[in-house]
Amino acid sequence: MSCISGLGEDEVNSFFESSPPLKNMEEIVQKLNAFIHLNSSAGGRRRRRIVCVTSGGTTVPLEQRCVRYIDNFSSGNRGAASTENFVKAGYAVIFLFRRGTCQPYSRSLPDDPFLDCFQFPDNTNIQVNASHVEAVKMAVMDQQAAVAESRLLKLPFTTIYEYLQMLRLIATALKDVGPCSMFYLAAAVSDFYVPWKSMTEHKIESGSGPLDIRLAQVPKMLSFLRTYWAPKAFCISFKLETDSKILIEKATKALRKYKVHAVVANELSTRKEEVVVVSSSGNVVVRCDSEKPESIVEDNLIRLIVDRHSTYIKEFST
Ligand code: PMT
Repeated sequence: MSCISGLGEDEVNSFFESSPPLKNMEEIVQKLNAFIHLNSSAGGRRRRRIVCVTSGGTTVPLEQRCVRYIDNFSSGNRGAASTENFVKAGYAVIFLFRRGTCQPYSRSLPDDPFLDCFQFPDNTNIQVNASHVEAVKMAVMDQQAAVAESRLLKLPFTTIYEYLQMLRLIATALKDVGPCSMFYLAAAVSDFYVPWKSMTEHKIESGSGPLDIRLAQVPKMLSFLRTYWAPKAFCISFKLETDSKILIEKATKALRKYKVHAVVANELSTRKEEVVVVSSSGNVVVRCDSEKPESIVEDNLIRLIVDRHSTYIKEFST
């Protein structure tokens, strides 16, 4: 495997110019504009803060008619749990998620075997088994309320091409919301990809020996998001490492380099118990509440992020 390095504006432009265009771009733009209009002051009825939560891993196809792909690890749990907490805190959420990953309000439902939740006492009725009634009721009610109140817009992606094009569309659409908008970038985004034009159309044949693939570097879009796409938005990025010894150093470097407002640093094996919020005002360790068995790290994490966002909005307007 070898990489083509060297990043900048040219690389970003060429990434987008050579990407296969989104199939449903008009529909996405229309949904986005309607959602933002309803939730921002421009709509006249409600004025809510709007957060874009990205969630799940992007894929890198190896063939245009894709059979094989490279994947980035993320179950989508962090993004889904954070989305629920942002809605609870009064935000409208644009949930940009990888198809098939964990969804808001579904985390407490058994995914395997999900159908064991239900039974048919006769041919006309479906019932939820007693052991799952509470979880299903809460999931259905909370999800329906969030959608009915226009607090949740879900937009799915699969590939790195779709993810970055959609992120750019969202950032552009949110530009006028300014400091009341936030980007919470929990998705695991590929650093390397096969440029569309140099990708083989059909399934790679397996009969010709070892596979030699040349991967180009995906331009880091954080700088572009901060500088051009949504310069007034509050921006939280993530840093995932498997070696805890380098985690905080890498997160601190990312904070300075990309000029985001905070970096949430997490180590793969402990990510559900603990994260460190790295920012210019110091590092804060965030954990779940040990006395509350139901507590998850996102309850305290989102409380902290929302507080920081409030301070940012106040400082912005003075
Ligand atoms: O989904 P779970 O199983 O619950 O796990 C959650 C998580 C561990 C995936 C999540 O908490 C997390 O850490 N997500 C970010 C993982 C990641 O991709 O880290 P990174 O070091 O590769 O990227 C750092 C930041 O740069 C990210 O915010 C990413 O959005 C951004 N990035 C990455 C690549 C790229 N080309 N452009 C970018 O802007």
